[in-house]
Amino acid sequence: VNIIENSTELCAALAPIRGSGRIALVPTMGCLHEGHASLIREARKLADQIVVSIYVNPLQFGANEDLDLYPRTLAEDKAICEKEDADILFHPVNLYPMNGPHVTLKVEGLSGIMCGRSRPGHFDGVVTVVNILLNIVQPDIALFGEKDWQQLIIIRQMVNDLHLPVEVVNCETVREADGLAMSSRNRYLSASERKKAAVLCRALSSIQAGARAGEARTSQLLKAGNGILTSAGIKPEYLEIRQADTLNRLDRLNGTTSARAFIAARIGSARLIDNIALETP
Ligand code: PAF
Repeated sequence: VNIIENSTELCAALAPIRGSGRIALVPTMGCLHEGHASLIREARKLADQIVVSIYVNPLQFGANEDLDLYPRTLAEDKAICEKEDADILFHPVNLYPMNGPHVTLKVEGLSGIMCGRSRPGHFDGVVTVVNILLNIVQPDIALFGEKDWQQLIIIRQMVNDLHLPVEVVNCETVREADGLAMSSRNRYLSASERKKAAVLCRALSSIQAGARAGEARTSQLLKAGNGILTSAGIKPEYLEIRQADTLNRLDRLNGTTSARAFIAARIGSARLIDNIALETP
């Protein structure tokens, strides 16, 4: 894998392929795990040249968040990119030179719910950096994991609103054997916290099972999910059921609109999120 640190060099490396082959971008903040590996594998199926970007974007971290602690593991990340046959690892030193950014994007509406409530400005930082990365790489496709479903919907909105010529592809969440969604932040968990963290997925699965069994009232489904969390001593930041694409709240599942259950909870010092699709019978 070719490690490139500046956008001029990246442009030059991609020039020969542009127009003749498809370029895929897998944007990441590094600390790559099996979830990222699956994005690279999917990209391999859909494109000829794969760029994995690694940039811990300061703009999407709040003042009291884990920007300084966020794991930086470039050597391991490079090994994963090599194993998965990525072509270029784009590792810019700073995407906001000269005290930038002086221009930022702001997402109305969608960024004020769920994760946006406790992380004001977070999604503005995400779309600002993703837009910059898309402008630098100019890929045909960009791949994102479904674990960050709200991020995915917001990025789709940005791509639509700005008419960006890129196809957004989502890939299923990759889970540990006990269901815990893979995340770079799982590294913050102690052994006992790691066990407890699997309860988030269990609560979501119970909501999914309730929906499959025919319960349509979201209040009832959430009650069951909250029961599981409470028994494990977890007080979630939120547990909600929303329409999958608009993220509108739903009172009832109706079998025609697709719905998802979403959770965020703090386990020890880690803030973890997860979500699951709900199909009605
Ligand atoms: O999901 C992430 O890792 C980040 O939010 C992203 C999309 C790379 C933007 O910094």
